[in-house]
Amino acid sequence: MAQTIQQIYDLVIAGGRKNDPRTKKEIDVQLKEAREAYKKLDKKKKPYFDKDRLKNPYADSRVIYGKMSTKVKTLFACIDAEVQEILLVNELNKQGEKIDLIFTHHPEGLALMDLTKVMPIQEAVMGDLGVPINVTEKLLDPRAKKIDRALHADNFNRVADAARLMEIPFMNCHTPADNYVHKYLEKFVKEKRSKMRYLKDLTEALLDIPEFAMGAKMNSAPVVVAGSPSSKLGKVAVTGMTGGTSGNEDIYEALNKAGVSTILAMHMSEAHREKAEKQYLNIIVTGHMSSDSLGMNLILDQLEKKKVKVISGGGLLRVKR
Ligand SMILES: [Fe+2]
Ligand SMILES: [Fe+2]
Repeated sequence: MAQTIQQIYDLVIAGGRKNDPRTKKEIDVQLKEAREAYKKLDKKKKPYFDKDRLKNPYADSRVIYGKMSTKVKTLFACIDAEVQEILLVNELNKQGEKIDLIFTHHPEGLALMDLTKVMPIQEAVMGDLGVPINVTEKLLDPRAKKIDRALHADNFNRVADAARLMEIPFMNCHTPADNYVHKYLEKFVKEKRSKMRYLKDLTEALLDIPEFAMGAKMNSAPVVVAGSPSSKLGKVAVTGMTGGTSGNEDIYEALNKAGVSTILAMHMSEAHREKAEKQYLNIIVTGHMSSDSLGMNLILDQLEKKKVKVISGGGLLRVKR
């Protein structure tokens, strides 16, 4: 039983919505606003509107190359697909594999250029932690603009070109997978919180998650990067798991005011870490590849149940549940 690319895309978006930190209503408002914006455009401007925005609330997740009707029996799942992964898949196919689709996490092509459009998800994450909307909004706006300007320099279609030339369908699933990570870790922390006292209790508990255990075996275990393993946990906040990319480094002051003591993040730049440390926050970094793998695995398991064969590579730590 193969799945079409359309069916895979629909499954990805539905799962992203189900695990989204925002309410269903909020996501529907976003789609409604996109439809209204499209309607208002004059004929000349309509061809430039990314029509996927009318149905897909995740601007950083797209079918980058290929036809929606293509049947997929085998896919190559990865965290990053660069030109080398496209060549690798082509080589594997030459050796007898029949890979119908490259299914990567991080955005490429047109999905990369609109990365900042998913950043407002961070408003919901911060809102749940007690940071008022006006604060998050005002901090996110300049940060998103800065990222947009930096993206102007990017050779964004290079990988898509490789997929096109090799005729290998190519899609990415970024924020939907990251939403799974956010929800999963929030639930995990909530369930275990009463049994934990120190940061080291949480870093140890995280090893119960197979992707983090795998990461640990490859010298990439969850680690305390601010505070010490014997610091008390206090109020734990799962941040920096979803919402496109890291937000404004001034958000840590707001998190401090909201009563947060410990932050759980996938990865953190030194500039962010220093600002968070100045706000007396403890930080546990869970590991970029193991965390991104967790979200992808939760989606890949669903695809395998629909009889799609998964070949993993490109940094994905594949675990089946
Ligand atoms: Fe991610
Ligand atoms: Fe990532």
